[in-house]
Amino acid sequence: MAERQHAVELRNVVKRYGEFTAVKKMDLTVPENSFVTFLGPSGCGKTTTLRMIAGLTDITEGDLVIRDRRVNDLPIHKRNLGLVFQNYALFPHKTIFDNIAFGLKYRNVNKADIAQKVKSALDLVQLPHVADRYPNQLSGGQQQRIALARAIVIEPDVLLLDEPLSALDANLREEMRVELKRIQRELGVATIFVTHDQSEALAMSDKLVVMKDGIVEQEGQPEDVYNNPSSAFVADFLGHSNIFAGTLAEPSGETAPVQLEGGTTLKTTIHQIERVNRQQNIRAVIRAEKIMVSTNQNPTSNDSTSIPGRIKTVDYLGQMARYFITAEGQDWQVINPIDQHPFGEGADIFMHIPARNCVLLPGHHD
Ligand SMILES: Nc1ncnc2c1ncn2[C@@H]1O[C@H](COP(=O)(O)OP(=O)(O)OP(=O)(O)O)[C@@H](O)[C@H]1O
Ligand SMILES: [Mg+2]
Repeated sequence: MAERQHAVELRNVVKRYGEFTAVKKMDLTVPENSFVTFLGPSGCGKTTTLRMIAGLTDITEGDLVIRDRRVNDLPIHKRNLGLVFQNYALFPHKTIFDNIAFGLKYRNVNKADIAQKVKSALDLVQLPHVADRYPNQLSGGQQQRIALARAIVIEPDVLLLDEPLSALDANLREEMRVELKRIQRELGVATIFVTHDQSEALAMSDKLVVMKDGIVEQEGQPEDVYNNPSSAFVADFLGHSNIFAGTLAEPSGETAPVQLEGGTTLKTTIHQIERVNRQQNIRAVIRAEKIMVSTNQNPTSNDSTSIPGRIKTVDYLGQMARYFITAEGQDWQVINPIDQHPFGEGADIFMHIPARNCVLLPGHHD
């Protein structure tokens, strides 16, 4: 038999609650061994999709395939999945050992094997000495690790994680995301991770699935989705973007001018022009971090544009500053690293925009 490629496949999956469709025609694949992230605003259907995969809620239409087997009607306890949800409720009156052993006892694993498996799960989450404690004797981050240990000890085919880090404070959360990725890599288990934190999604995923209103808006490798958003929604949701309507002029060489609605002219690349099929009415997307601000005007070059502007307000972010700028009558935002001090409010500056950083989208609204 050919090697299996997908741990999970959704084919035209729909979920309706009465009149309301929470998930509309979802097609999705989760490759074996991969870390896939669902990212999207509140209510877009992330948890619903995960619950359908887990077997916690039934599927209205379509097929759910786990490891080459249609499992729409297979009950949850026969799916061999590891689950960690946002409220990682451990059993408060059971020891950590018994919390982790729970799923194994249920599967009639013998005592010696249970002891051995619980020990390796505790080692994996780097808490080898807490087996005899109770959950309330652990910190939030430690409890979260135990919830993860409990999910992986059964050697699941797929690990399903619904915002497992959201109850943790910012520092711990960053630590845990490194841990989680390490554990996933060590086990090689296909993982679906739900978050609405974009930096988490970009940092962790092999494949990023951006969802909106019950559909997959865009999926791909994080850097592809980030650099080539397929819609204004994705461009805006991932990071901060300047988005303007405009028209394309004839290319000359490797670049072409884009005339923005407000009168500013930028350069874009042939590659971008091909992406919109040489259509004339477009929208230009320029990410806030992909514009360089300086006080001097660079010599005009073929592959970059310099636009004079004035800083209206500055958000100081530590290593970065976010500038709100007026240039040629339009409002822009720029996020730049700070060398020593950010530019001050009222400063006259130039924005430098390389042609490759002017991404094009079709002109219609989405
Ligand atoms: N049991 C239910 N009955 C009716 N509607 C529901 C039910 N569960 C979820 N929904 C609706 O389905 C939509 C998707 O919900 P879901 O929980 O999947 O969103 P989500 O993407 O996980 O959001 P969040 O980021 O807030 O967790 C929402 O509009 C929600 O109100
Ligand atoms: Mg949710």
